[in-house]
Amino acid sequence: MSLFARSVSILWALMLFWLSRNNAVAATTVNQLHILVTNSLYGNLNLTVSCNNIDPAHHFLRPVTYHEWIYSGDISRSKPQFLCSFQWQGASHSFNMYDPISELDCKKCHWYIKQDGPCRWYFVSTYRCAKWN
Ligand SMILES: *[C@@H]1O[C@H](CO)[C@@H](O)[C@H](O)[C@H]1NC(C)=O
Repeated sequence: MSLFARSVSILWALMLFWLSRNNAVAATTVNQLHILVTNSLYGNLNLTVSCNNIDPAHHFLRPVTYHEWIYSGDISRSKPQFLCSFQWQGASHSFNMYDPISELDCKKCHWYIKQDGPCRWYFVSTYRCAKWN
C-alpha cells in the first residue's frame, strides 16, 4: 500500500470509530462547557429561558442581556441537558443548545435568540441560525 493510501485508510478508520462512538454511546462527557444565551429579540421584548433537565430556574432576560451556564459532566442524548424552552410575548419554542455532534466546534456556545430561531458563530467565522424545533 502506498503511504497515501495507508494514510487515507487510517483516517477512514478513525472517522468510522468517531462516528460510531458518537452514535452508539448514550452520553458524551464535557468539561467546563460554557453555554450562553443572549436575548436578541427585536421589539424590546423580554425573554424567559428554562432548561429543566439541568436547572429548575426560569431565567428572565431583558433585551440584550444574557445568561451563562458552565457545565461539566455527561450530556445525555435521551434527556439533553441543554434542551431548553424560550418564551416571550405570544411565543413559546424549544431548542437543544448543545448537541454533541452539531456543537462539536464549541467549548463556548453563545446563542443569540431571535424571533426566527437561535443563531451562533460556527468555527469563529460563520454565523448561522437554526430553526425552532
Ligand atoms: C420587560 O420586563 C420589564 C421588567 O419586568 C418590564 O418593565 C417591561 O415592561 C417588560 N417589557 C415588555 C415589552 O414586556
